[in-house]
Amino acid sequence: MRPVVDEEMLQAAIFSLQNEKLVMGESVYKFEEEFARYCGTRYAVSTASGTAALQIAFQSMGIEQRDEVVTTPFSFFATSNAVIHAGAQPRFADVENGGFNLDPAKVETKLTSMTRAIIPVHLYGQPSRMDEFRDLAEDKGISIVEDACQAHGAEYDGRRVGSLGRVGCFSFYTSKNMTVCGDGGMIVTNDEKVADAARSFRDCGRASKYTMSRIGYTSRLNTVNAAIGSVQLRKLDGWNKVRREMANLYRRELSGIEGVELPPAETAKETPVYHLFVIQSERRDQLAAHLEKNGVEAAIHYPVPIHLQAPYRATYGYSEGSFPVAERLAEQVLSLPIHPGITEEQVRTVSRLVRESNAE
Ligand SMILES: Cc1ncc(COP(=O)(O)O)c(C=O)c1O
Repeated sequence: MRPVVDEEMLQAAIFSLQNEKLVMGESVYKFEEEFARYCGTRYAVSTASGTAALQIAFQSMGIEQRDEVVTTPFSFFATSNAVIHAGAQPRFADVENGGFNLDPAKVETKLTSMTRAIIPVHLYGQPSRMDEFRDLAEDKGISIVEDACQAHGAEYDGRRVGSLGRVGCFSFYTSKNMTVCGDGGMIVTNDEKVADAARSFRDCGRASKYTMSRIGYTSRLNTVNAAIGSVQLRKLDGWNKVRREMANLYRRELSGIEGVELPPAETAKETPVYHLFVIQSERRDQLAAHLEKNGVEAAIHYPVPIHLQAPYRATYGYSEGSFPVAERLAEQVLSLPIHPGITEEQVRTVSRLVRESNAE
């Protein structure tokens, strides 16, 4: 990836710094309005990070100690950390076969009378099977919180992700499909009570300037970052279009290589945004070494599933074999370079190297 900082963003930043309050200036409210409109939700509440967005979302929904939240062990670890930050208990269910996302059928087996929410993560910009999650949660008092931190602009059944559950959470960390040139996050929802509580939680728990309604956090998005975010949001669809074109080129160039599995084929319902283009190979480490030797940086998202990270082993007693699909993915996934600035020639070069390595 290569973060974009263009002249328009610099001008927006300078204007903001010279003319606005540095914290909770006008650009923050403008960016929130624009982001809500983009996602098709009534409200958007900005936060200091994606992790904070998730934690504040849970707390704003009234999720508390001893409540259970079911999610995937194959994500960036912030997803389940945020459940713990909110005081609740994460419960994992394994990933679907042939994909990267949480498997609704496996989630069903983990639901208990204590389950208050399910977090499908639209990993790598690939929408989760939201219909099935909705069917699972309906009538059980279970909320769906979408972790859309890697999926700005992705669509499922003609609707933008983030707008499909009770709450959607986004990150603007610098590697994401759009950023704010620093840390930042956003909660989107149609639930007015959740939005009101989130606005208070992120701003020290305020009810008004010097009165509090809850124990909150200093977790606001800085004004200058919001001003840059507005510019980036206008460019997001164009950037996602390039990502999709480059992903299709990768698919063509990499088709038919024995032992190399491509990301799941797109269906009519899903419009992924390829935050990452992830292939799978049993020879993943040799493949990565061959790319590196030839000057191509490939990455592994993620080499250790969350349940096998030290604090999760220690606290919850997980060990190898708990979630076999997630564990196999951790051994086999490889993210090839993809970003809006990548050229067709670069995609062809990377693809040639993958084919070459496989023939070795
Ligand atoms: C899937 C997922 N969830 C949550 C987060 C947390 O976001 P942040 O880094 O902004 O706290 C990230 C990104 O870093 C992510 O990729």
